[in-house]
Amino acid sequence: MTDTRHLIGLLLGTEDDWPTAFTEILRRLGPVEGHAFDTERITIEPFSLRDRPRYHLVIDRLAYWYYHPREWLKKIAMMDGVYLLNSPFTFQSMEKHAAYCAMMRLGLKVPETVLVPYKNPIDNSRYAYTSARYNKSFDLDAIAQKIGYPLFMKPYDGGAWRGVSRINNAAELHAAYDASGEMLMHLQKAIDFDVFARSLSIGPETMVMRFQPDQPMHARYAVDHSFLSPETGTEVVTIGRLVNAFFRWEFNSCETLVSGGEVYPIDYANACPDVALTSLHYYFPWAMKALVKWSVFALVTGRRPRLDLETDRFFQIADEPGLSYAERLDIYRDLADGYFDAARYYDFWAPMQAHLDEVVLDWVAGPDFDQLLVRTVRSVYPAHEHDQFIAHLRGLLDLWVQEETARLRTNA
Ligand SMILES: Nc1ncnc2c1ncn2[C@@H]1O[C@H](COP(=O)(O)OP(=O)(O)O)[C@@H](O)[C@H]1O
Ligand SMILES: [Mg+2]
Repeated sequence: MTDTRHLIGLLLGTEDDWPTAFTEILRRLGPVEGHAFDTERITIEPFSLRDRPRYHLVIDRLAYWYYHPREWLKKIAMMDGVYLLNSPFTFQSMEKHAAYCAMMRLGLKVPETVLVPYKNPIDNSRYAYTSARYNKSFDLDAIAQKIGYPLFMKPYDGGAWRGVSRINNAAELHAAYDASGEMLMHLQKAIDFDVFARSLSIGPETMVMRFQPDQPMHARYAVDHSFLSPETGTEVVTIGRLVNAFFRWEFNSCETLVSGGEVYPIDYANACPDVALTSLHYYFPWAMKALVKWSVFALVTGRRPRLDLETDRFFQIADEPGLSYAERLDIYRDLADGYFDAARYYDFWAPMQAHLDEVVLDWVAGPDFDQLLVRTVRSVYPAHEHDQFIAHLRGLLDLWVQEETARLRTNA
């Protein structure tokens, strides 16, 4: 019997793959503890600030870039208590810069980073005056030398590698700074990493994936189940969960460089993380399952959005004298898991997990998923590459199906 229906709104850009997957998994999952779920793609329209939204939860991949949906999300969060992944109230810190500050404050190993003023004054007549009068000239070479080459120059609010360059010497430094124009740039010490871990977190679940930044998009995530030692893997998960709990990000991807056993966080603020089938491939079913599980958990348990950051709870641990780095991380992990209600989440799903696993496996192994895969490739790649990428993705998803089948058989 179904007592309550929840409408989940999807605020989308151009993508069709994950919304289709998410909707289909929810449909096949069926009601959970008397709660039923519908999804709807949200359209952008005029709204009265006193309108009551029909949605109980919204997953957003748009509002970081577009103001109209962003303001609508703020309204439904503030006035109607709608649960958001993610809340635009947390976007103020969605530039890398604030995340670096928070992580340094919490004692994490962010590489040495300096923010330099704009190369060119921004397009605002008053700023030009202010800049001419108050922007002190500075010695870019001295800053770079203090950090040490090689270093990275990258926008303080970057994303998608826009404006990122690796700098080896003074000539490259000046060329990159001249080209930065009106972008506000960080200089950051380069880490000569052994492995690059990219983790995707959704609520209290995290997948840590081996990332190969020099590969083309479709090959960046390598399928590799043991590229980190268990301790390093736990550290990477803890740091991701900590940053997410700290800023109230519930759907985020994080980038970490591992060098000589040390874990260096470099990119921890991705408001609308990429979950495309074409980039996640093998990991796509995991991501869809986690998104369904977190949304359902939040709705069924009546989880309330928490907009206040309560940063002092974290800073108290950072300031506690006598704690080692590892001890601090353990306490942060407890705080973060507390924020995500992790224990309750896993208890909640335990009796239904086998059913959900079967639903997702059955769907991914079947013809509907294959059609989605083919449709997605056709919409993303030029015609002459369709066959290649369809075969590539089918191979990876077949691998997932085989491994998942074996895993479920062992569990049964
Ligand atoms: N400090 C660093 N050391 C080594 N590589 C870096 C560093 N900073 C950035 N990179 C490289 O540049 C890429 C883009 O930088 P990142 O900070 O992730 O910006 P974006 O938000 O544009 O992804 C990273 O994925 C990594 O390959
Ligand atoms: Mg990045």
